[in-house]
Amino acid sequence: GMVRKPAAFISTISDERGAELMYSGVKISEVFESEMGIGGVISLLWFKRTLPSFCTKFIEMALMLTADHGPAVSGAMNTIITSRAGKDLISSLVSGLLTIGDRFGGALDNAAREFSSAYDRGLTPREYVDQMRKANKLIPGIGHKIKSVSNPDFRVQVVKEFVLKNFPSHKMLDYALAVEKVTTAKKDTLILNVDGCLAVCFVDILRNSGAFNAEEADEYLRIGVLNGIFTLGRSIGFIGHHLDQKRLRAGLYRHPSDDFHIDMPQRILANYKK
Ligand code: ACO
Ligand code: LMR
Repeated sequence: GMVRKPAAFISTISDERGAELMYSGVKISEVFESEMGIGGVISLLWFKRTLPSFCTKFIEMALMLTADHGPAVSGAMNTIITSRAGKDLISSLVSGLLTIGDRFGGALDNAAREFSSAYDRGLTPREYVDQMRKANKLIPGIGHKIKSVSNPDFRVQVVKEFVLKNFPSHKMLDYALAVEKVTTAKKDTLILNVDGCLAVCFVDILRNSGAFNAEEADEYLRIGVLNGIFTLGRSIGFIGHHLDQKRLRAGLYRHPSDDFHIDMPQRILANYKK
């Protein structure tokens, strides 16, 4: 018979070769018939399964509430400045996305790993906080530049209320809230932030909802999937900021010089004389 050449790539999430496009074995017509929404599509393409509706609703909620947080955050500023430098949508978007990381918006995967590891090691919230301080590490998912106990982040409120009401188990959220009690006692701004809150709730989906087995949950924590949620959500806002600047016909931005403290070393030119 025919000898098939060995495949250079393996792909397991979608197939466009048949009469109908399929996401993880589900026909695109069924995707719409079932009204699974974008949460359902993410379940199929990221997790290769259909997730219960409290999970898909949670995913959609996460995308909606991370969609934007004003023009002043690192990523939006990058997008706006790039857009005002006359660049196109993709360049402006990517410029914003490149700021997402450990400090801004990209703390989810590490928050998920660190909180669940602390929980698994049986550390009390105080022991966890002390251990991280001794290791000279910031706790991912804790802290905010402007939000605090006295100026709470309403997004985090909304997530907590939904999860407490709809999740079969929220052990990891409870643990993170107990950690927040310890950190906010030290400093008002050391709240469980939106990255941290979404991350621990996702750990509750991975580990405590019955939708994944233990190995699968560990595997997703290892490969890191949760920063994708913030990245996807905030892309909505970054694209919005780009369009906004184009609509406003905003010109090239140059930051006011008096906003820089310039402290340049005095070079000795003598060394360079011929
Ligand atoms: N864990 C432990 N201590 C912390 C943490 C933390 N995550 N964050 C700040 N602190 C401490 C600092 O060590 C510092 O202590 P000190 O006064 O004794 O020196 C104090 O709190 C203030 O620290 P700053 O760096 O000034 O805090 P800032 O408000 O500038 O930082 C930030 C905010 C960047 C979010 C910071 O808290 C952090 O890096 N957190 C961890 C990463 C994270 O979760 N990022 C996501 C934020 S949410 C989002 O971007 C959508
Ligand atoms: C955000 O969602 O971008 C923020 O929580 C970060 C910030 O400083 O507002």
